[in-house]
Amino acid sequence: QRLPALLRAMPKAELHIHIEGSLEPEMIFALAQRNGVQLPYASVEALRSAYAFTDLQSFLDIYYAGASVLLHEQDFYDMGRAYLARAAMDNVAHAELFFDPQTHTARGVAMETVVGGLHRACVEARAELGISSALILCFLRHLSEEDAFATLEQAQPYLDKIIGVGLDSSERGHPPEKFARVFARCRALGLHAVAHAGEEGPPAYIWSALDVLKAERIDHGVQAVHDALLMQRLARERIALTVCPLSNLKLRVFPSLAQHNLRQLLDAGLAATVNSDDPAYFGGYINENFTQVFAATGLTARHAYQLAWNSFEASFAPEADKRRWE
Ligand code: HPA
Ligand code: ZN
Repeated sequence: QRLPALLRAMPKAELHIHIEGSLEPEMIFALAQRNGVQLPYASVEALRSAYAFTDLQSFLDIYYAGASVLLHEQDFYDMGRAYLARAAMDNVAHAELFFDPQTHTARGVAMETVVGGLHRACVEARAELGISSALILCFLRHLSEEDAFATLEQAQPYLDKIIGVGLDSSERGHPPEKFARVFARCRALGLHAVAHAGEEGPPAYIWSALDVLKAERIDHGVQAVHDALLMQRLARERIALTVCPLSNLKLRVFPSLAQHNLRQLLDAGLAATVNSDDPAYFGGYINENFTQVFAATGLTARHAYQLAWNSFEASFAPEADKRRWE
């Protein structure tokens, strides 16, 4: 019982959390009512029972439907604030929140509404809960690079509220190369770069996320184990992988948690971290991810310290904060 207590109590950073994936069914229904949005589900229970995923796409379809209730600045604030309060309970000292503006701007919601609400949540959570946080704008890879450029254009006035860009949504058939130019532009603007790669997609997508997009971290990246040369590079360059065990389980990346390769990644010297991805959909916030994957794979206290240390080291927080947490 000492290990689960350590996992819960240890300070940690969460680096892979889609804020729209923190929308609990209860909040989806409350916002639908508040905003007069019609949902194709009769009740919270009916919605929750639709959370039976077979792969990434089957999840994304429901995830985008859930996000359709978000209309006003207050909605984005409430969502961000609820997640940060929950994360603070899990002893998350620092969180980097992904958000998907194209999911909202496509419905006529302004970029200012999205960024304004989320940023206000981050500022207030720091003052009231002591949790530090930052925003990472994700481009949807199933849309075009032209659409990504238009999104970056809309975000230009708010770049002081965004620390970086990421790449998410349907991986297969949408390689990183598709977004080479928009990522180059983002880096020139001083933004950090990360990308989902090697969740369902091949190791080749991890190579191109690094070489073409110049991604500083790889989100998921668990398919790297199928490429020995890539494993050596990730270890040598200390490129962090933001691993999400319960997500991988629910989207059937691994048949069971016992077969998850987190231990293999750590033992090969990779800077892996543990994260929740979309906690409202995958059945657990960050501590649940830690306790379940440790129980299933026999990880030890030594791994726990390594994972917590990796999470701060790989974060984009100011160096002074990192040193304090480590
Ligand atoms: N992968 C890709 N896109 C996503 C995910 C994910 O795990 N979660 C939310 N959008
Ligand atoms: Zn993700």
